[in-house]
Amino acid sequence: MKTILITGCSSGFGLEIARHFHERDWRVIATMRSPRTDLLPPSERLRVLALDVTDPQSIRQAVAEAGPIDVLVNNAGIGVLNALEGISMDTAREVFETNTLGTIAVTQALLPQFRQRQSGVIVNVTSSVTLRSLPLLSVYTASKAAVNAFTESLALELAPYQVRVRLVLPGRAPETRFGENARARMTAGIPEPYADLAQHIFAEWQQSTLLTHPQDVAEAVWRAATDPSTPMRIAAGADAIEWTQD
Ligand SMILES: NC(=O)c1ccc[n+]([C@@H]2O[C@H](COP(=O)([O-])OP(=O)(O)OC[C@H]3O[C@@H](n4cnc5c(N)ncnc54)[C@H](OP(=O)(O)O)[C@@H]3O)[C@@H](O)[C@H]2O)c1
Repeated sequence: MKTILITGCSSGFGLEIARHFHERDWRVIATMRSPRTDLLPPSERLRVLALDVTDPQSIRQAVAEAGPIDVLVNNAGIGVLNALEGISMDTAREVFETNTLGTIAVTQALLPQFRQRQSGVIVNVTSSVTLRSLPLLSVYTASKAAVNAFTESLALELAPYQVRVRLVLPGRAPETRFGENARARMTAGIPEPYADLAQHIFAEWQQSTLLTHPQDVAEAVWRAATDPSTPMRIAAGADAIEWTQD
């Protein structure tokens, strides 16, 4: 029986990925900053562990408690939507600490066991905004584009050890808590000179009918984890798939 460890399982994609693999008879280690046992079904194959990807001690402890892992999914992430002039450097650092350095740190902590066993899969969840640039997302896009570059280089480094590394790029998914969570970093609002641009962008988004659902992301992660023939970049969701065809 294979074991998957997923970061950021308290909501959204992470929670759905945990459910998806559990339903398919995998052993699942669902990690959360604040562990909750009421989100997933009680099961001998399911463990909830505390893991804050920005905290080295928390990473060490979770990796020690988890035991052998076959698949790591770096899913935890935070967003910020604003003109660059409206984003403090503290916020920019927080976004990179979680999305970029958090992914690198958790990967580094699990890597020795993958290399020694000469097997394992690492799946990094980034975003379709790295495929087609949008305004007001400069810092978020940079944090995820850095993970794309990191992943593609790491894949070459680990290929001799039979460790596979893949990217899943979801499109826009209003069903998750992502927008609500990001709002905490946007309390100062959009700077006035960018108000018209922001209104125009928000109106465009309202009109777009193609969206991503958590199930699309869970299925893309499933393919990345179980099918060695998948390409390096797997778009998840109708909008993300359309963007890869541009
Ligand atoms: N929704 C979208 O439109 C969209 C599109 C493309 C890509 N993505 C990416 O998909 C991933 C999942 O997002 P989602 O839509 O499912 O959003 P979500 O519902 O907000 O879930 C994000 C998860 O990350 C966790 N998290 C945040 N900071 C963390 C930290 N320091 N350590 C560990 N966990 C942390 C959150 O936990 P807490 O409950 O503790 O905050 C939450 O469980 C993210 O990487 C996001 O960038 C989202």
